[in-house]
Amino acid sequence: MKLAPLRRKDIARCVEIEKQLFAGDDPWSARAFHSELDAGGYYLGAYDDEDRLVGYAGLVSVGRPGDFESSVHTIGVDEAYQGQGVGTALLRALLAQADELNAPVFLEVRTDNDRAVGLYERHGFTRIGVRKRYYQPSGADAYTMKRPARTAQEVR
Ligand SMILES: CC(C)(COP(=O)(O)OP(=O)(O)OC[C@H]1O[C@@H](n2cnc3c(N)ncnc32)[C@H](O)[C@@H]1OP(=O)(O)O)[C@@H](O)C(=O)NCCC(=O)NCCS
Repeated sequence: MKLAPLRRKDIARCVEIEKQLFAGDDPWSARAFHSELDAGGYYLGAYDDEDRLVGYAGLVSVGRPGDFESSVHTIGVDEAYQGQGVGTALLRALLAQADELNAPVFLEVRTDNDRAVGLYERHGFTRIGVRKRYYQPSGADAYTMKRPARTAQEVR
């Protein structure tokens, strides 16, 4: 498995995986992925030995040097490839990018998504709030989670 910048030709595959993973929660369209890339988001794909996309993740950072803030916009791994470290590798790569910018990282995750919440907690995120009915059409709640900027982690 290797990580590389997400290619536009893989967006159709992302959309396929989105439908599998987020069926009840308004999965992203191809247009949504294109606009994330157009906006300069840091998007990575995870590719198997046959160069097939098996997962993807995206981080968006705003601000200016000395004052950046990042958000994990998405992370997904094809169900057939879950539990093999792909999600961890994608998340770590996004966090390395945020650390380059010395940015705190925010994300939203369904409150019932134990696996993802556990993954984030093991990578320095804590829950800072709940957004009621954040996901539609399911109406599921989200935790907002935050991982402090690298310098803030060092002085803790
Ligand atoms: C969350 C997700 C990205 C993790 O990807 P993954 O490739 O399965 O992750 P990994 O194999 O790196 O495993 C991550 C953790 O989940 C645990 N895990 C993996 N498969 C598991 C399973 N079947 N049951 C319970 N825990 C499992 C692993 O033990 C690992 O924990 P560790 O850090 O203690 O080793 C993936 O499950 C996914 O795409 N889920 C659906 C989409 C989603 O929820 N995205 C996040 C939205 S905010």
